Amino acid sequence: MSFDRDLFRLPEAVAGQEYVLATYYLETPLELYEAANALAAEQSSGTWRRVGRETDDLREAHGAKVVGIYPVPAEILENNLPTAVEPDRAEGLRRPRYRAAVLRLAFPTVNFGAKLPNLLSAVAGNLFEMGLFTAVRLLDLEFPPGFRRQFTGPRFGVAGTRRLLGVEGRPLVGSIIKPCVGLSPQDLAQLAYEGARGGLDFMKDDELLADTEYSPLKERVRAVTAALRRAEEETGEKTMYAFNITDRVDRIRELHDIVVENGGSCVMINVMTAGLSAMRVLAEYTQVPIHCHRDFAAAFTRSQHLGIASVAMTKLYRLAGADQIHVGAVAGKLFGSDEEVLLDARTCLEELPPLAPALPVSSGGQWAGTAPVNRRKLGNLDFLHLAGAGVFAHPDGAAAGARSLRQAWDAVLAGAGLEEYARDHRELARALEHFGRPVT
Ligand code: 6PG
Repeated sequence: MSFDRDLFRLPEAVAGQEYVLATYYLETPLELYEAANALAAEQSSGTWRRVGRETDDLREAHGAKVVGIYPVPAEILENNLPTAVEPDRAEGLRRPRYRAAVLRLAFPTVNFGAKLPNLLSAVAGNLFEMGLFTAVRLLDLEFPPGFRRQFTGPRFGVAGTRRLLGVEGRPLVGSIIKPCVGLSPQDLAQLAYEGARGGLDFMKDDELLADTEYSPLKERVRAVTAALRRAEEETGEKTMYAFNITDRVDRIRELHDIVVENGGSCVMINVMTAGLSAMRVLAEYTQVPIHCHRDFAAAFTRSQHLGIASVAMTKLYRLAGADQIHVGAVAGKLFGSDEEVLLDARTCLEELPPLAPALPVSSGGQWAGTAPVNRRKLGNLDFLHLAGAGVFAHPDGAAAGARSLRQAWDAVLAGAGLEEYARDHRELARALEHFGRPVT
């Protein structure tokens, strides 16, 4: 049997040109067709009424095209009542009739070029303020190959991170130094040493620590780098450390240079507070992998009714050059469902030539006991399993916490249960006593 594939092709006008495709969820009291056109117009050549110089030719070349309207059955709105209604439309109605749909729009790249601030203003700008869109969420973005080719993307990604560490065949394990803030460079370096001694592949500054008076970046890089070198001499294993260089945009390159010149192996950026373009500029310049922390993004990714879905943001981080991307926590302390985490992780790894795959980072409430569930849910070994308290709150100290993580992964990859494996692996046994039962 063969199936007709033509039905699902984009209209010729769209397929033949350079368009970014955006998928939205929309709730509105408007007719869906009217709402879709209003969205397309507002975000491209039009406004609420056609203006004099908006010719058909101009619309053809620059207008966003509605390429799909998929009505959503009304029943699913039961618990999602919208919050705003135009008073005259609502008048006389106890409960105005809302419609909901998934929309697909194609935005001509000629309107913004390969520039992230301008792209975002088009696909995720004013539309969130439109009073008659009572729920509006950007669900996904698709970039044509010609558009992607204009970005560096991840310079190191999965392959580069693994190559620098010399680790294959298992997930990378790591930690965030805790306490996050307040430690002197020397005290922080001592903790980094202990974690590295215990077998961590990766350690990092918390997103709350960058270049501060009490912990100047240069001093921290020197102290940590010396500590990690000492640990490597003892264990024969490398540990990568991500130094947080989030700062004023005009200092980021300078801080990168401080890291590199003092022997640092990785830089970190809080991408949404520093800005996507800041990370892109860094990606075009960097000599070491970029660890991308997404704090603040949940302010607009968390609601199901307003904002931007995390998967669209993950694509933007990758496009902007992130080598390692936080994707939330499998069975941890964060809000994202396991499905969302999985979708973000897949987005880091999916084929998007020429962008190299980025390494997904599973972090937030992780410890040795969450290794089995990460293995099962993430479905492959290309990710970084990060535990803060899971290492630094281990009852026998950070080195033991680190060992408990490595032992948990040895067990999982050998197909053994953690409790069984813990019988002759003390650090894992102590982690299970302290943190609770394994999550499978
Ligand atoms: C980071 C952390 C940070 C946070 C986490 C991890 O990478 O900087 O993700 O955002 O502190 O929640 O901490 P726990 O492993 O202790 O939950």
